[in-house]
Amino acid sequence: MTQKKVILTGDRPTGPLHLGHFVGSLVNRVKMQDECTQFVMIADMQALTDHASEPELIKKNILEVAFDYLAVGIDPKKTTIFLQSLIPEISELTMYYLNLVTWNRLKHNPTVKQEIKQKNFQDSVPAGFMIYPVSQAADITAFKADLVPVGDDQLPMIEQTNEIVRKFNRIYKANVLVEAKGVVPQIARLPGIDGNAKMSKTLKNAIYLKDEIDVLKKKVMSMYTDPTHLKIEDPGKVEGNPVFTYLDAFDPDKQKVQEMKDHYSKGGLGDVVCKKRLLEVLDSFLTPIREKRKEYEKDPKHVLDLIYSGSKDAKIVAAKTLKEVKDVMHMY
Ligand code: TRP
Repeated sequence: MTQKKVILTGDRPTGPLHLGHFVGSLVNRVKMQDECTQFVMIADMQALTDHASEPELIKKNILEVAFDYLAVGIDPKKTTIFLQSLIPEISELTMYYLNLVTWNRLKHNPTVKQEIKQKNFQDSVPAGFMIYPVSQAADITAFKADLVPVGDDQLPMIEQTNEIVRKFNRIYKANVLVEAKGVVPQIARLPGIDGNAKMSKTLKNAIYLKDEIDVLKKKVMSMYTDPTHLKIEDPGKVEGNPVFTYLDAFDPDKQKVQEMKDHYSKGGLGDVVCKKRLLEVLDSFLTPIREKRKEYEKDPKHVLDLIYSGSKDAKIVAAKTLKEVKDVMHMY
């Protein structure tokens, strides 16, 4: 019998999850939880690296993220959902790994660089933020994860993780840590409703899984489309038009999407018609998720219990890895 592959992923609890999270990784987590041993982490400590002054916000969003996980079908019977701060072993691993990474390497991590710009840190980047790729390496390696389902913006994190894994195993002449592979979905990145390349909370261009129909409607009807498509008769651009990117991602009727694209490119199909179709598609996608979410929202205590018991299980695994790490480093 071959051993089951191990998955580790997570999200920062700084807000509820949106459609970008769904196509970027939730969909793969739901699919893969049957064949793999999956750990899903609510990364509250990583959230502090750019929200140090808002612990209350993080606390509130731990449950929000957990509700979203459960609502999309991450099944606590198959997947261990846990809270990062309940696993101090991860922080201890981070301290050991930090000596295996150069400051220069961290400064050049593309994800970190991009986020520094986006968050407007300028010269005041918190040191904890600069080193979060190392703590993310600790998240992943603590569970000896083989697979990490993430959006493509996270691939540099996995690269950095694997550099640490190789260096650790080499200098401590051990085979303790395991290299991980990113699992990137077909549509690796969902644009925002404003046409920005990435949907994100920070950019305020997201459709949330919990958005009610009226909010959803406002967002869809105000979506960015092809700015040169002024009259209905004009030929419109499908490429880079988020309405069509979303239809590609969520409309089960692929033939209809193709027909609409052809019609739009030729001219004669208006934006409003496309948006109405998208609204219909997204609402039927989100309705069962919203309903399931509401069931869990009725019993937050139950969800907290799930997180605590998941964290207990996760701690056992992380503690075992930490022991192996310390053994080969002669830290006992
Ligand atoms: N950095 C991820 C994000 O911003 C969250 C995260 C923390 C994560 N630890 C992880 C993702 C480990 C994958 C694996 O969304």
